[in-house]
Amino acid sequence: MSTTFELDTSTSRANPTPAPMKRLTVPVIRGRKQDGVTAEPIVMLTAYTARQAQLLDEHCDLLLVGDSLGQVVYGLPSSVPVTLDMMAAHGAAVVRGSYHSVVIVDMPFGAYEQSPEQAFASASRLLKETGCAGVKLEGGEAMAETVTFLVRRGIPVIGHVGLTPQAVNVLGGYNSRGRSEEEAKKIVADAIALDKAGAFAIVVEGVVEPIAVEVTKAVACPTIGIGGSSQCDGQVLVTEDMVGMFERVPRFVKRYAEVADIISDAAARYAGEVRARSFPGIEQTYQPKKS
Ligand code: KIV
Repeated sequence: MSTTFELDTSTSRANPTPAPMKRLTVPVIRGRKQDGVTAEPIVMLTAYTARQAQLLDEHCDLLLVGDSLGQVVYGLPSSVPVTLDMMAAHGAAVVRGSYHSVVIVDMPFGAYEQSPEQAFASASRLLKETGCAGVKLEGGEAMAETVTFLVRRGIPVIGHVGLTPQAVNVLGGYNSRGRSEEEAKKIVADAIALDKAGAFAIVVEGVVEPIAVEVTKAVACPTIGIGGSSQCDGQVLVTEDMVGMFERVPRFVKRYAEVADIISDAAARYAGEVRARSFPGIEQTYQPKKS
């Protein structure tokens, strides 16, 4: 199969095509945390499309093609039905739209849990077909062997502990984690196992703040919080949450724009003008050349 991540400037809608920037690398991101200190916090946002990537790229260190695209893009009830084909298609689009950020693609549910070999087949496909720099997978101690297997074979991995949405059927919902001593200990142990296994960063999602801080102190690699703590080594949000595309606002989300209102208002004005036959106007129609 041919690679799909070359930028074709003649057909790209990049506007204008950005000047080439040197892309950050996994070792640079990993190196942001030295001896437990991260002087410059790591900025990560999700991206699912080329145009979204173009808009976010210069502001981010990492772009995550999250399997949250199941709910956000495809209207699915959870990330469980997301496929490797979906992740490959969106991953390639995000790589095409970015020049600067490290692009990480989520491994979808069912594509890696069975064995390290299954994980390698899925992850290598994502790297080959998208041009991404690495993958993210959910789970702690149970995934440590797989993480080592992938890293030793050239595939950088971000781990993901705490609230792991692919396990929604086991967890019974999306509530915050780490409220009991047993759960808190498990989250810290999971993070330590992933760190030792060679993960270059760990997403810490939906955990009570003291546990996010404890995890950050316990591991050598950077932690990236979402519903964690400002003391994590970086932060990630789902971009659509961050720009206000949805009515529901989870506690850990801060909205930096109200894009849903802007789109809805634009659609209402467009519909009004179509119905009034005031769109298209003379400026939007092709007129015969005056002879
Ligand atoms: O799928 C996703 O978008 C994620 C982030 C929320 C960390 O895993």
